[in-house]
Amino acid sequence: MRIDILTILPDLLQGPFSDSILKRAQEKGLAEIHIHNIRDYSTNKHKQVDDYQYGGGAGMVMSIEPIAALIEHLQSERKYDEIIYMTPDGEILEQALSNRLSLVDNIMILCGHYKGVDERIREHYITREVSIGSYVLSGGELAAAVLTDSIIRLLPGVLNDETSALTDSFQDNLLSPPVYTRPPEYNGWKVPEVLLSGDFGKIEKWREEQALERTKQRRPDLLNGE
Ligand code: ADE
Repeated sequence: MRIDILTILPDLLQGPFSDSILKRAQEKGLAEIHIHNIRDYSTNKHKQVDDYQYGGGAGMVMSIEPIAALIEHLQSERKYDEIIYMTPDGEILEQALSNRLSLVDNIMILCGHYKGVDERIREHYITREVSIGSYVLSGGELAAAVLTDSIIRLLPGVLNDETSALTDSFQDNLLSPPVYTRPPEYNGWKVPEVLLSGDFGKIEKWREEQALERTKQRRPDLLNGE
């Protein structure tokens, strides 16, 4: 899978992809993440990428020309399955969307800033708009990193234990059960006996019950299929 991220702040995106699972996925050749600076495609003398909005009002708008030039440059090299715009007014990211996106070959992600991008970009290039929650970030970069992480970790071979993405919270509309490691007792606080019993049937049943209980208490909406 290849993900191209279009941003005016490329430095902000270096960190999240150069450590741990996302770094390993790239080293193993399972994922390619390319970060592109929209400013490099500005033909403006001052490399400007934004302008005042028509009709007046506070806040700048990201200009159509450099973004369109970058998108078209990338499209001339390969076909993209999705061109995603990160925006608070997009569809809220859920596990099901990450699952679906993990099955495609090429994704482009555009990060917005200021008041957003010229609407014509959204009308003519963008295939999907995604929000990571009902709050406003300073820009789309952190949201793009969240979306990318949630997709890449699902690719076969990225996680060491192939089953571990399948047992994540949300994969079956249930939250994960509690987990423990050594020591068996700390400060008088004990690990539930069943986990030390060695009886895997019982352990599995306990985990299922705990997952259901936790979901009922914290996210009943998941059980109601909302
Ligand atoms: N850009 C600013 N806020 C955002 C959000 N909540 N989700 C996606 N992109 C954003």
